Amino acid sequence: MASNSAISLDFLILSIILVQIVGTGAGRIAIYWGQNGNEGTLAQTCATGKYAFVNIAFLPTFGNGQKPTINLAGHCDPDSNGCTRFSSDIKSCQAKGIKVMLSLGGEIGTYNLSSTEDARKVAGYLWNNFLGGCSKSRPLGDAVLDGIDFAILHGTTLHWNELAIFLSRYSKPGKKVYLTAAPLCPFPDIWMKGALQTGLFDYVWVQFYNSKKCEYSPDHIGKLLHAWKNWTSIPETEIFLGLPAAPEAAASGFIPAAVLTSEVLPAIKTSAKYGGVMLWSTYYDDQTGYSSSIRSHV
Ligand SMILES: *[C@@H]1O[C@H](CO)[C@@H](O)[C@H](O)[C@H]1NC(C)=O
Ligand SMILES: *[C@@H]1O[C@H](CO)[C@@H](O)[C@H](O)[C@H]1NC(C)=O
Repeated sequence: MASNSAISLDFLILSIILVQIVGTGAGRIAIYWGQNGNEGTLAQTCATGKYAFVNIAFLPTFGNGQKPTINLAGHCDPDSNGCTRFSSDIKSCQAKGIKVMLSLGGEIGTYNLSSTEDARKVAGYLWNNFLGGCSKSRPLGDAVLDGIDFAILHGTTLHWNELAIFLSRYSKPGKKVYLTAAPLCPFPDIWMKGALQTGLFDYVWVQFYNSKKCEYSPDHIGKLLHAWKNWTSIPETEIFLGLPAAPEAAASGFIPAAVLTSEVLPAIKTSAKYGGVMLWSTYYDDQTGYSSSIRSHV
C-alpha cells in the first residue's frame, strides 16, 4: 500500500517533468546573422538567449573553380582577414549551447558545382577552412563551426547531394558535422531535392516567404498547411517554419506574431517533425522583437 503510493508519486513527478519538457516551448528558433552591418554582433546575438541555431550568412562564391569568398556585409572585410575576429564570438555562442553554421549560397552570388570532383573539393575546402581541418587562411579564424547550411537558391541543381555526402563523411564520434538546409517552400525544391533525399540533414528550415504559392495569406492558411504537410514527407526528421522577422524582411510572407501564435503554430505543431521557427534575420529581429513575441509559443 505504502510502496504503491510511493510509485505513483514518482510517476506523477515524472509526468510533470515530461510535460514541462515536451509541452510548451518544445520548438527552437534559428536565425540568420551576417547580412547587415547594423545588426548586433554575433556575440550579442547569441547573448540574447533567444536562438538555438545561428547561421552565418553567407559563403556566396564557391564551386566551379572559383576562389571561395565569404561575405558578411558591413561586419568585416574578408580580403584583409578582418572576419577572423569572429572566432571568439563563435566560441562564446557555442559555450552557450548554440550551434553555429556557415550558410552556403543566398540570393546574391555565384555558386554551382560542376562535377562530383568539384563537390568533393568544396567539401574538403569547407572542412579545412571552417570545420575541424587545418588551413593557414581560415576566414573565420580557428573556431570550429558546428556544420554547414545549404541556402542554394539559384545556379545548377546537380551535385548538392554529393556535397552533403562528402561533408557528412567528416563526422566523427563526438564531433558531428551538422547539415542544415533552407529550401524555398514550393515543394519539391528543385535545388535541394536531391540533397534532401539523402536524409543526411539534421534540420531543414523551409523559407515560407517570397513564394505566394505556399506562404501564409490571411484569407487562406490552407496553402501553408498543405506545403507544410508536403515538407514533412522528406526523410529528414526536424522541419522548421522559416519566416521573415519583419514585413520589410521579405517581399511577402510576413505573419503577424499574434496570428502566428494563435493560428499557424497550433496547426503545424501537431506534426511529429515540427522543430521550431527559423527567422530572417538578426537585423530585422533586432528591430521588431519578433522572436521575443513568439518565443513562449514556439
Ligand atoms: C556556374 O558558375 C560559373 C562560375 O562562376 C558561372 O560562370 C556560371 O554562369 C554558373 N552557372 C549557372 C547555371 O549558374
Ligand atoms: C505538394 O507536393 C506535390 C508533389 O508531390 C505538388 O504537386 C504540390 O504542388 C505540392 N503542394 C504544395 C502546396 O507544396
